[in-house]
Amino acid sequence: MKITILSLFPEMYEGFLKTSIIKKALDKQAVEIEVVNFRDYTLDRHNHVDDTPYGGGQGMVLSCQPIVDALKAHRTENSQIYLMAPVGETLSQKKVRELAETDHLILVCGHYEGFDERISNYVDGALSIGDYVLTGGELASMVISDAVIRTLPGVIVEASHLDESFENDLLEYPQYTKPVIYDGYEVPEVLLSGHHENIRKWRLKKSLERTMKYRPDLLEKHEFTKEELKMMEEIKKND
Ligand code: ADE
Repeated sequence: MKITILSLFPEMYEGFLKTSIIKKALDKQAVEIEVVNFRDYTLDRHNHVDDTPYGGGQGMVLSCQPIVDALKAHRTENSQIYLMAPVGETLSQKKVRELAETDHLILVCGHYEGFDERISNYVDGALSIGDYVLTGGELASMVISDAVIRTLPGVIVEASHLDESFENDLLEYPQYTKPVIYDGYEVPEVLLSGHHENIRKWRLKKSLERTMKYRPDLLEKHEFTKEELKMMEEIKKND
């Protein structure tokens, strides 16, 4: 898979590309990432990439020409192109899995300002990473790239995806490591028992408890098994 990022601040990606799992994924050639400064495509004498909004109002708006020309230079038949914008579809693990299927993802980052709406004629959609406004799309593009890259084959151990938060509409259960007692806080006994079935049940119940407490909206689309329904009753009873 290849990811092309269009940004006015390529230097923001230096740490991202040189660290940890993303660096390993690049070294292994599980993914190729290219960061393009779309200011290089401006035909404006002063290299301007934005202008004042028609109709008046605060701030500046990113112009069509530099972004569309940069897209034309970098897209292929197989590219999926997304603008990073708070008005876009909110990212979910499901969307991440969908994006990971594409051969070539192009993420376009704005900064300070919005995009000229006509740019939407050249892209497949807009993506938001949450209901808040960032100073630019760079962090959003890193979040999206990170979430996509870690799902690619060979990047992280396959089994570690299965129990993850959001993979089955539930938040992940709590995890513990050595020592057994830290500052008086103990690891739950069941996890030390070696009894796999009891551990599975305990983890499932904790996942349900956590999801109910922090993300009850996820339970609305969750398809409960009989076992989970029984656990939910127990959880509600003990509440
Ligand atoms: N640019 C500014 N805010 C954003 C957000 N929440 N998601 C994606 N891109 C953005």
